[in-house]
Amino acid sequence: MLLNDWHPVALSTQIATGSMLATDLLETRVVLWRDSGGVLHAWEDRCPHRGTRLSMGSLRDDTLTCPYHGWTFGKEGRCTRIPALPQAPLKAHVNVYHVQEQYGLAWVCLGTPAHAGPPAFPEFGDAQLRKVWCGPYDVRSSAPRIIENFLDMAHFAFVHEGILGDQQHPVIPDYSVEAFDDAEYGSGVWAKQCHAFQPKASKAATGGSDIEYTYRVVRPLTAVLTKHPPDTIREAIALLLQPLTETTTRAWIILALNDFTSSDDALRAFQDTIFLQDLPILESQHPARLPLTPGAEVSVACDRMSLAYRSYLKQLNLQYGVIR
Ligand code: FES
Ligand code: CO
Repeated sequence: MLLNDWHPVALSTQIATGSMLATDLLETRVVLWRDSGGVLHAWEDRCPHRGTRLSMGSLRDDTLTCPYHGWTFGKEGRCTRIPALPQAPLKAHVNVYHVQEQYGLAWVCLGTPAHAGPPAFPEFGDAQLRKVWCGPYDVRSSAPRIIENFLDMAHFAFVHEGILGDQQHPVIPDYSVEAFDDAEYGSGVWAKQCHAFQPKASKAATGGSDIEYTYRVVRPLTAVLTKHPPDTIREAIALLLQPLTETTTRAWIILALNDFTSSDDALRAFQDTIFLQDLPILESQHPARLPLTPGAEVSVACDRMSLAYRSYLKQLNLQYGVIR
């Protein structure tokens, strides 16, 4: 299931022409490399000869050379040279994956793409909003636990006290959760008219206010939050997860907002603060894999969105502990 989805694996700017970058996705080693024409490639980072990481070798003239025995592989992943046996038939080839670039990130699909491209993030295309890339943040937990934390407002008063929440205002008013299917956002589940009192809801906030939130889960490992504060600040936050393994995850965050006064560094530092507050909580959750069996964890009414997310994963047949 997740094999056929698109996952973020790097910032586009991390892979310059003629360079390689090694990463992991769904327990698979991946090497990204950009050819002389600027086209990005994603291959299994594993030499078909003896399993060496190709990214430890070299990239020259759009050809990767394995560091172990010097076999070379051309653009389509086919072996073009075996130095120790020049007469040998060239049957070997590297596994090649689908890759595309969007929202300033490289996205890889290891299987047969079930979608034409990465998840919808329409605010990214809004020229009125400035874009800031935060993270990535590495978390020793499963990706669904991180999505659920992102959808959860009841922790604001405790984990983000003084910033996103206030222990004097811990109550989460009821909100509704629905499935959606539209041209702009695609399909998924969303929670609307979520309210929380926030002492400092954004980098630019000067005082506490009641913030209205909309949360959308647009793919199993992608959620987008839009804030509708009473003032003129508009902000959308996309949480885009790269599942490294079942229980380790890299989180990419893109902000699309109309705060043009704060510096990129200040906006990033604000997200870092929030994420680093969530990190020890996320890494302490047991089991790391999100339990999808009803009754495995006790829920209350304000966990509506997290329960909707669990049902959504179940409907997609993403069973407990199975990320592939
Ligand atoms: Fe790559 Fe032998 S392991 S050439
Ligand atoms: Co949090």
